[in-house]
Amino acid sequence: MKKIAILGSGSGSNMQAIADAISAGKINAEIVYVGCDIEGAFLFQRAKNLGLECELIDCLGYKQKFPAEVQSALAEKLKEMGVDLICLAGFMRLVGQPLLQVFPDRILNIHPSLLPAYPGLHAWEQAVDDGATKSGCTVHYVDAGMDTGEIIAQATVPVLPGDTAKTLHERIQIEERKLYPLVVAEVLSKLG
Ligand code: GRF
Repeated sequence: MKKIAILGSGSGSNMQAIADAISAGKINAEIVYVGCDIEGAFLFQRAKNLGLECELIDCLGYKQKFPAEVQSALAEKLKEMGVDLICLAGFMRLVGQPLLQVFPDRILNIHPSLLPAYPGLHAWEQAVDDGATKSGCTVHYVDAGMDTGEIIAQATVPVLPGDTAKTLHERIQIEERKLYPLVVAEVLSKLG
């Protein structure tokens, strides 16, 4: 059975969706590691409810940076655990070479826009502010850039008249929770 690691910073709804798909037999894998860089994030609670331990990833006091030595230690640990695929699920730090070298083409991310439109933070807000008529989410391989890796799949939602950043984000997140598990299943099946 394939082994998945989840890295997040927030509520963990995408991790939940992946875990639910595993329970439903739609993904033939197990989550063997959950890590979070934000103390007290709801992700810890969700992991606990799923019977999973969530490790606090200590980023040495840096607010945004993902220090190379922290990435190296994590890469080593996940390699030793035999992790096949790392799923970033709302993880707010930029992954770099120490992890990418150990897990080439084995790190996925979900982003709340139709990339290449609106990379980076608050993508849904940018879409509303711009008067975009459609938005959505993208699952992509992670490279060293900000939301620039190869796109695997996208789901589109309309931006409706009267939408606020919040209402659009909620609509996008519904699609995220459907798309991410499907892509994880597909990517894992191709790993053989
Ligand atoms: C999602 O909207 C994802 O696209 C973005 O961060 C959010 C994470 O949500 N990268 P959750 O923690 O999975 O609920």
